[in-house]
Amino acid sequence: MKARFDARFDAGRPLAADTVQVLGVYRDELLRWNRQINLVSRRNPEAIAEGLIRQCVGAFDRWWDASGAELVGSTATLRVFDLGSGGGLPAFVWLALLKERGVRARTTLVEPREKRAWFLERLGRLRGAPEYDVIAARWGEAAIAPVAEESAILFTLKALRLSESAILGGLAVAAGAPPPRPGVGIDIVRFQPTEGVTVAGLAAVLETPPAGARHGAGFWSFESRGSRLLVPVRGAPDASYGAGLFVSRHVLLGEPG
Ligand SMILES: C[S@@+](CC[C@H](N)C(=O)[O-])C[C@H]1O[C@@H](n2cnc3c(N)ncnc32)[C@H](O)[C@@H]1O
Repeated sequence: MKARFDARFDAGRPLAADTVQVLGVYRDELLRWNRQINLVSRRNPEAIAEGLIRQCVGAFDRWWDASGAELVGSTATLRVFDLGSGGGLPAFVWLALLKERGVRARTTLVEPREKRAWFLERLGRLRGAPEYDVIAARWGEAAIAPVAEESAILFTLKALRLSESAILGGLAVAAGAPPPRPGVGIDIVRFQPTEGVTVAGLAAVLETPPAGARHGAGFWSFESRGSRLLVPVRGAPDASYGAGLFVSRHVLLGEPG
């Protein structure tokens, strides 16, 4: 597939032509509906929308290199839950980039506000859009769909703060019993500022168990594989505008015995 630089979404690497096309459509829709639904700032919305998309591209690459490629490994499907999707960030951008990498994703966007959920549904019908479902509910309040045996699981959250146990506890409600096979890997990726945060501080606030800890959340139990903070380093293409990511990894153990 042909790759090219596009100044609007350039986070330091060329993007596949299909990715540029679908991100362009997404940008236009964000701007088109911004007045009615309040999706991005109304001051200089073009630059803001492009900056946010670019930030999500840089963040995806950082997660992919540090954790994502390993999580996805040889799993057949990545089960993705984007919590508090709002106008579709980071979900829409990350799904386009997963597709670019040939990852098969089965995705649910969780957004309780009706107008935003409507907008997300609309986006999903655009030409070339990645496939996903939208659930207009708060995370943990609605049954969604079972997680297939062969999946790894990715949670993304941007500008929504939920504790580790709220996220993992909602999984059994969303996916229903029984759990998929023990050993399923789970990444929880939260967008963060790049300064003024530490792994220890975030882990304390978000109640992220230390590596090796076995913990129950909702009806299932998990083992923590620890957490880390990924920030753009000096000289990185997105050093001046990039997002930090707090990434925690868990392994599903099953139902508590
Ligand atoms: C500040 S917005 C962020 C939107 C988007 N992720 C972004 O960064 O542009 C947070 C969104 O989370 C949604 N939200 C709030 N509580 C939630 C919950 N418990 N589960 C899922 N979404 C929630 C809100 O409706 C809102 O649209």
